[in-house]
Amino acid sequence: MALILRGVTHQFGDAKVLENLDLQVEEGCFCCVVGPSGCGKSTLLRIIAGLYQPIGGEVLLDDAPPSLEKGEIGFVFQEDALFPWYTVEQNIKFGLKARNFDKEMWDDIIQYNLEKVGLAEYKRYYPRQLSGGMKQRVAIARVLAYNPKLLLMDEPFASLDSINRNMLQADLIDLWSREKKTIIFVTHNIDEAVFLAERVVIMGHKPGRIKRIVDIDLPRPRNRTDSNFCRTRRSILEIIES
Ligand SMILES: Nc1ncnc2c1ncn2[C@@H]1O[C@H](COP(=O)(O)OP(=O)(O)O)[C@@H](O)[C@H]1O
Ligand SMILES: [Mg+2]
Repeated sequence: MALILRGVTHQFGDAKVLENLDLQVEEGCFCCVVGPSGCGKSTLLRIIAGLYQPIGGEVLLDDAPPSLEKGEIGFVFQEDALFPWYTVEQNIKFGLKARNFDKEMWDDIIQYNLEKVGLAEYKRYYPRQLSGGMKQRVAIARVLAYNPKLLLMDEPFASLDSINRNMLQADLIDLWSREKKTIIFVTHNIDEAVFLAERVVIMGHKPGRIKRIVDIDLPRPRNRTDSNFCRTRRSILEIIES
C-alpha cells in the first residue's frame, strides 16, 4: 500500500475541516478526490504532503510520514507556480538543485522530462511566452524531473479552457500509464474525475469527510459520450448531492 491515512482530523481555529478520514491508496493508483468547494480537498492534499500537521490521525507513505523536501512527493497547483523570471529550463533546474541532483545530470533530465510533456522546443522560453496549458505542462515536467513516488495535483487544469483541459487529461493518462506513479488528483469537475480515475473519493462537507469511494473500471481510452461513462458520471453526481 503506497499511501495510508488513518483517522486524519484537522481544524483551523474552532472550525473542524476534516473529520476522521481513512483512506488507502495502492501504488500506481490514479485516485481522484471530488467534493463541494470548501470541503477540505486542498487541506487534505497539504496534509498528505506534510505541509500541514493534522491535529489527529496519521499519514504514511510506504510506512513513513511523507516529506515534500525529500522529493518523494510532487505537488502541482491550480495556477502554475513557475518563477516568471526563469526560463522553462531554469524553472526545472531550480527543483533539481533544491533536491541536490548531480549537476551533470540536469540537462539530460530536463530534456527527457520536457519531451514527456511535448515541450522540448520551449526550453528557453519564459512563462509569459507560454499559454496556460503549456505552463501547466511545465509544472508537471518540473515535478516529474525529480521522480517523486506520489504526485499530488490540486485542480491543475481548472483554469484551462475545455479543449486544452481535455488534451492535458489525455496526455496525463498517457504519462501515468507509462510511469505508473501513484496520483492523487483533486477536481470539482466530475467529468474530469470519471475520465481520469481508477478510483474516485467523494467527499462531503461540514466537516469534510469521505462519503463514498467509487471504483471506475471503464476501458481506456475513455469516451465521454459513451453511455457507461455518462451513467458513472450521473451516479457520482447523485452521491455528491445526496
Ligand atoms: N489556512 C487556513 N486557515 C483557516 N482556514 C482555512 C485555511 N485553509 C482552508 N481553510 C478553510 O478550511 C475549509 C476547507 O478549505 P479547502 O481545503 O481549501 O477546501 P477545498 O479545497 O475543498 O475547496 C474552508 O472552510 C476554508 O475556508
Ligand atoms: Mg481547493
